[in-house]
Amino acid sequence: MLEEFRPPERVPKSFGSSRLLLRQYRTSDAESLAALLAISYQDHLAPWSPPGMERDAEPTGGGRAAREHILVALDKCEEGSDYRLFITLRETGEIVGQMGLTQIIRGVSQSCFIGYWVGLPYVHRGYATEALVLAMEFAFDVLKLHRVSLWIATGNEVSLKIPARLGLRFEGTAIRGLFLGNKWHDTHIFAMTSEEWSERKAELKSIFVPREITLVSGTADEIQLSS
Ligand SMILES: CC(C)(COP(=O)(O)OP(=O)(O)OC[C@H]1O[C@@H](n2cnc3c(N)ncnc32)[C@H](O)[C@@H]1OP(=O)(O)O)[C@@H](O)C(=O)NCCC(=O)NCCS
Repeated sequence: MLEEFRPPERVPKSFGSSRLLLRQYRTSDAESLAALLAISYQDHLAPWSPPGMERDAEPTGGGRAAREHILVALDKCEEGSDYRLFITLRETGEIVGQMGLTQIIRGVSQSCFIGYWVGLPYVHRGYATEALVLAMEFAFDVLKLHRVSLWIATGNEVSLKIPARLGLRFEGTAIRGLFLGNKWHDTHIFAMTSEEWSERKAELKSIFVPREITLVSGTADEIQLSS
């Protein structure tokens, strides 16, 4: 098997820039997640959320539903089929949103989907754009995937600005492609391959991850990805 077709033996639990740290969930995050969802869900996330997310916003039982969500996500991380990561602020540790590399397919596909949300108090600071570039670096340089795609509902104008800003390739529209906010949405598909990433990595990182510092060994629990 070609080296690049193998999943990595060891995946870091966190990575990031000097501003953001994307890190795996911890069970102790349940209350913070539920609290952020409680203030963000109704007016901000609801139209673009998959079924069941409103349960995670339930503060009852110290965020019991959020805890279950975290446990399921940790299992999938362990299997290497999904990586759901919190977008956190490096300086304070606050959770500001979530980035998911999901439905990882190995074999002939070597692909995943990327999805994200940022909590209402933290929008318009460039966090989603920066975190997406970091997630693509994780997908290509750490997970050794060949292709990532973003599926965005055609009515989600704010989210559509992100692939536009990054110049991701538009591949077409899936009619009634995603069930979000309790209805089917036509969905624009954007993608990047590892070949495109190699060509564009330096440019994307210099524009959207300008605060990066140093490269640290990939064997540590946290790695600082190289520029
Ligand atoms: C879509 C979403 C993730 C965007 O998150 P975000 O962190 O606000 O996105 P960004 O800050 O990277 O980009 C948004 C805007 O902030 C602006 N911005 C970037 N850096 C900035 C900074 N330092 N200061 C102020 N504004 C900034 C960007 O230019 C952009 O503005 P524009 O759209 O007018 O061009 C967020 O609104 C969200 O979670 N929405 C609901 C769920 C959702 O739609 N998820 C995506 C499903 S596909």
